[in-house]
Amino acid sequence: MSGFRHAPHFRAIATACILSIYLLYLWAPDLFLHETHSKTRGNVQFAFPDEDQRGKLNGGDARKADRVVETMKRTFWKYRIRSWGFDDIKPVSGGQGTSRNGWGAFIVDTSTTLALMGMWEELRLEVDHITDKIDFTTAEGGVNTFETTIRYLGALVSLVELIDNEIVPPTVLSQGTRDRILAQAITLADKLGPSFSSPTGMPWPLMNFTTGFPYAEATEKWDSGRVVVFPAHAGSNYLEYKVLSHLSGNPLYINRATRSWATLVWNKYIEEWPGLVDAPIDLFNGAPADKQRGWDRKHDSYYEYLLKAYILDPGDRYAAEYRDRWVQAVQSLRNNLVFESRPLPGQQVGVLSIATYQNGWFINEMSHLACFAPGNILLGGRYLGREDFITLGLGLLDGCHHIYDSTPLKIGPEAFSFMPSNTSGKYYSYEPSSEKEREQLEKYGFWIVNPAYRLRPEYIESLFYAYRITGDRKYQSWAWDAFTAIENATQTEFGFAQVKNVMAEFKKGNSENLDDECQSFWGAETLKLEAKHPGNEHSTSRAPLPGSNRGLAPSREVTDSRVISASNSPLYPLLNVMPITRSQAMDAAVKTFFSSPRFAVVGASQDPTKFGHKVFAWYLDHSLLATPINPRAASITISSTAHPTAPSVSALPSPEETSISIITPPSATLAVLREAKAAGVPAVWLQPGSFDDEGLAYAKREFKAGIGGAGGMGEEGWCVLVDGEEGMRVAKQDLAEKL
Ligand SMILES: *[C@@H]1O[C@H](CO)[C@@H](O)[C@H](O)[C@H]1NC(C)=O
Ligand SMILES: *[C@@H]1O[C@H](CO)[C@@H](O)[C@H](O)[C@H]1NC(C)=O
Ligand SMILES: *[C@@H]1O[C@H](CO)[C@@H](O)[C@H](O)[C@H]1NC(C)=O
Repeated sequence: MSGFRHAPHFRAIATACILSIYLLYLWAPDLFLHETHSKTRGNVQFAFPDEDQRGKLNGGDARKADRVVETMKRTFWKYRIRSWGFDDIKPVSGGQGTSRNGWGAFIVDTSTTLALMGMWEELRLEVDHITDKIDFTTAEGGVNTFETTIRYLGALVSLVELIDNEIVPPTVLSQGTRDRILAQAITLADKLGPSFSSPTGMPWPLMNFTTGFPYAEATEKWDSGRVVVFPAHAGSNYLEYKVLSHLSGNPLYINRATRSWATLVWNKYIEEWPGLVDAPIDLFNGAPADKQRGWDRKHDSYYEYLLKAYILDPGDRYAAEYRDRWVQAVQSLRNNLVFESRPLPGQQVGVLSIATYQNGWFINEMSHLACFAPGNILLGGRYLGREDFITLGLGLLDGCHHIYDSTPLKIGPEAFSFMPSNTSGKYYSYEPSSEKEREQLEKYGFWIVNPAYRLRPEYIESLFYAYRITGDRKYQSWAWDAFTAIENATQTEFGFAQVKNVMAEFKKGNSENLDDECQSFWGAETLKLEAKHPGNEHSTSRAPLPGSNRGLAPSREVTDSRVISASNSPLYPLLNVMPITRSQAMDAAVKTFFSSPRFAVVGASQDPTKFGHKVFAWYLDHSLLATPINPRAASITISSTAHPTAPSVSALPSPEETSISIITPPSATLAVLREAKAAGVPAVWLQPGSFDDEGLAYAKREFKAGIGGAGGMGEEGWCVLVDGEEGMRVAKQDLAEKL
């Protein structure tokens, strides 16, 4: 199973159109601004009325913003003084932890938070450590491949993306430093490589970095000896490796990750509830070893990544399948596992909660981790225009909020149970098993299964999406309530610590209720998501955002991996690529364009870094008959085949049945269009950056189909590399209907 065949194509598909806009901006800022101010583009983000030109919220509360940044500073400096270089600090005793192989998990994992908060001094200290001190070729203890991928690898590639997008200015980290960070990511990924050597391609749970061999411990074995994998483990490689392949130009990584989740995405076993895979899965033959289903722990991020894989790269050849699998999984979740609780005390209605399924048992127990689901469902609901999913997401979020709002510490517990309002027809439900649980059920409407709080981000993450997507200030204030409650309850002399019991009465400085633990996601996710809540930001930005310093579209808001992912997946531009409105006229034009039997690329180039190369390669890769047009080269060689060029549009063999892609500078484009018109060309596609107002107007007016300008799936303007696939599919379908 191969994600793609040629590295240049892959790079083209992933980011060509985005890059072309960035490059173009350097040459032609006026044109660019004109484009981005067009109101026709969709965006997942709510159009906040008080947003200023630079996409920042004027209503930002500097005091709140400072509080979050101060909390991150305190977290950083306590660690710096007591535990520098260790994986984590022991926040109660001031000791050091080596929970993550001793590479300094805190340093790597929090680096992107420091980047987004603009904490340059602290960031430089961390990056020096990353580039000069960490040796990923050896490890303390066995290496957990899942944790290492989401924490270390995810952070490293995200940091490179933040540098490449100048969230971190070149004055803070140089190109050479950036290259060394990427080299570390590659070293680590290569060390992890053998973990994918199972017959199914799914990863072994552990690696021995000394021997270079993967292995499993007794706890990962099933039925005396079968090694099994859960969906989250097989699925949570895709985004990290996709970005690594993009950054390194090496398709090996994404091929591995694609194969790793292929067993789940293209599941050959019957799914009773389509989209929800039975787990765990046998590492050697891909067969389900048990019937466990759900969106909770061990399953969660497989479903999360399906959506993000689609949004990150809608031009990927499997993107539509990832999207469809995600939609199926949400529908099956809703139909089979989401339930309404018995009415809450003193109220007529209950809240929504998520159950899991195990071998015929309907388990009405939910963990804090599953509170990521509302945010993920909201993101996809808005992206795909599914109002029913938005309703579902907000309903589930109400349930998570109720949990937080009920406890004495105002923090949600690690695991909890609601009683379903309707138990008839369900196989089984837990009921409260002790006097204490019955009291809790009566008082709160749920009972506590595990009373701890481990500094987790999922609830704040979902609030982040809810506020950005709906603009409802309620979610902003809930996020602030959660932050202050967490800060109060977890603060220690040496940082912030896990809470033993959220049901204990609040007592300032109550260290008896704390565990001497603080995992890296506290700084990497919880605080970052809190800081990126609109309204908690400075109105004058500390961390320069593309929305403010690069003249990108208003309402663009930077989101790096951790801002948008519970599991540290690298998805830098995610919230920026949100088509809600697609112009129907343009869809029809795309269909006409792909109805031609022949294609030509004006400005085709031999140079693989040029878009004239990538676009031409795209046509070949899709088995379309395409002629390169270039007056200065006799042929263009791709994959060792020389393709003879035509010197101009009028020299094409049959221009009247040829659709033309144009990748020339705006100054040259109008002349090309006039020539194409005279030659009888039916349809033209102006790649982003190839046209000015006049050229675009001419193309739309003078041809049967003229494509270009604002819109398209990638929000970078219509681009063959991103929008071509879907256009081809629609055109083919249309043709099939006619035949
Ligand atoms: C890795 O393998 C070596 C050699 O067999 C062994 O000594 C070591 O204990 C192993 N490490 C782990 C973490 O299992
Ligand atoms: C409860 O669930 C059963 C089985 O799914 C269904 O037949 C019944 O109508 C439900 N009752 C209510 C009040 O929704
Ligand atoms: C947190 O502490 C502050 C100051 O002591 C107090 O005003 C506030 O009520 C506390 N918040 C919670 C949720 O206990």
